[in-house]
Amino acid sequence: MAFALYVSFLLLAVFLTFGSLSAEAAIKKYQFDVVVKNVSRLCHAKPIVTVNGRFPGPTVYAREGDRVIINVTNHAQYNISIHWHGLKQFRNGWADGPAYITQCPIQSGRSYTYDFNVTGQRGTLWWHAHILWLRATVYGAIVIMPKEGVPYPFPQPHAETELVLGEWWHADVEEVEKQGNMLGLPPNMSDAHKINGKPGPLFPCSEKHTFAMEVEWGMTYLLRIVNAALNDELFFAIAGHNMTVVEIDAVYCKPFTTSAIVIAPGQTTNVLVKADKTPGRYFMAARPFMDAPIAVDNRTATAILQYKGVPTTVIPMLPRLPAPNDTIFVNDFLDKLKSLNSPQFPAKVPLNIDRHLFYTASLGIDRCPTCLNGTRLTASLNNITFVMPKIGLLQAHYFNIKGVFRPDFPDKPAAAFNYTGAPLTANLGTSLGTRLSRIPYNSTVELVLQDTNLLAAESHPFHLHGSNFFVVGRGIGNFDPEKEPAKFNLVDPPERNTVGVPTGGWTAIRFRADNPGVWFMHCHLELHTTWGLKMAFVVENGNGPEESILPPPKDLPPC
Ligand code: C2O
Repeated sequence: MAFALYVSFLLLAVFLTFGSLSAEAAIKKYQFDVVVKNVSRLCHAKPIVTVNGRFPGPTVYAREGDRVIINVTNHAQYNISIHWHGLKQFRNGWADGPAYITQCPIQSGRSYTYDFNVTGQRGTLWWHAHILWLRATVYGAIVIMPKEGVPYPFPQPHAETELVLGEWWHADVEEVEKQGNMLGLPPNMSDAHKINGKPGPLFPCSEKHTFAMEVEWGMTYLLRIVNAALNDELFFAIAGHNMTVVEIDAVYCKPFTTSAIVIAPGQTTNVLVKADKTPGRYFMAARPFMDAPIAVDNRTATAILQYKGVPTTVIPMLPRLPAPNDTIFVNDFLDKLKSLNSPQFPAKVPLNIDRHLFYTASLGIDRCPTCLNGTRLTASLNNITFVMPKIGLLQAHYFNIKGVFRPDFPDKPAAAFNYTGAPLTANLGTSLGTRLSRIPYNSTVELVLQDTNLLAAESHPFHLHGSNFFVVGRGIGNFDPEKEPAKFNLVDPPERNTVGVPTGGWTAIRFRADNPGVWFMHCHLELHTTWGLKMAFVVENGNGPEESILPPPKDLPPC
């Protein structure tokens, strides 16, 4: 007995030594308590749903190669689920989080443990609630450091800060959304924007709700910027300072310098900033980009870049942000985004395509006798408005439960039309359905997302769960399958998890379907997701257990 104990102690010691030496497979554990908390902003107090009473929620820190275990306990009155946006969750959709897609929500009083490995990714991602509009306040950053001893492919910054951009409503966001649905109209737009949960001193009662970052003259800083807003694409700039973009969506990119960035909901952007200007106080500011004739909350959130030793009585300078409808600036900025594509971080762009998909994104109007105008706004992909199922699609697929979804999402719209011609108001006979697209394991997929002029052309940031993709092309007007592919960038296109489809234009993406599971794809404007601008892929298993979905965890929430 004593001997056995001694041996196991020895083994443990050996294990611990090797564990720390190899720097692999560290386990990072977090407890997320979902709790309602009263907070006061812009002279109004209201209860909001938070993680651990914090807003924004805690940052999750990990290293590439780590295992992350996050136990979520729901103390709020809403059902909840949390999505780790941009983490690939290889074979492990059970930890992905979108409610009714990969899991049933965690009911009030229950817990669920998200248990996943961080494999082949490093950079900034984020997490957020993935049910109702709860992500308005339930979100936080994820920082994945490179493996121990592996440097960044850019100069080591003196320090790093996360800047999480968000939106804020005076009213209860769930009520705002319900109200909109009842009337069949877009819910009220937000009342403010925020940087790290704070609107900045340009808003009333917000002196103390201002995020400030102290810098030392001559030092370089890494800013990890996340757009956690529900519905607004944002510009971000720092007065008097240029930024060098080095990473997007946790993928290194070719560095370039810019006076402002544009960032869509769901996206992350890492920039380097050098504190080499006249010591002072400089505003950092975020304000929407909107180039369609659609009303938007155009208020500017600010935070302060504060040089060490400068008195806080000095009034900061505001940056010159691009005009709210500056499409040219945005196109210019997006054209500069290129994968780093170095020997260490190659861009593995699929060159031969097994499956060509063409999806139209449209808004629409349905009859709704109980609504204000007798109609309600909807949205669709290939003329199908996605209907949320009552149980998780991943369970339905894994356990072969019939009648939950149909695997017949069409590869292209039923009829071609002039997608971006004169505004269309005709009803295209949009249908409802929980229809998924089935993709054989390891297929290469090209998907062209085409905006349409039904009701209004509008930009849509599409997010794919479970895989990154390469943005090989983008253009205005109708995609021309004869001419455009010749112009695709197949060498160093940006790799990301969320990409904007330009207003009245198209975006072409490519990915390899090597992650078996059910993966949600949707517009990351919460407004449009709610209206049905979403679908999912079923990536089939390959050969053997290594290419198959893992078995579900024991505590997977029941419906
Ligand atoms: Cu960040 Cu399905 O979302």
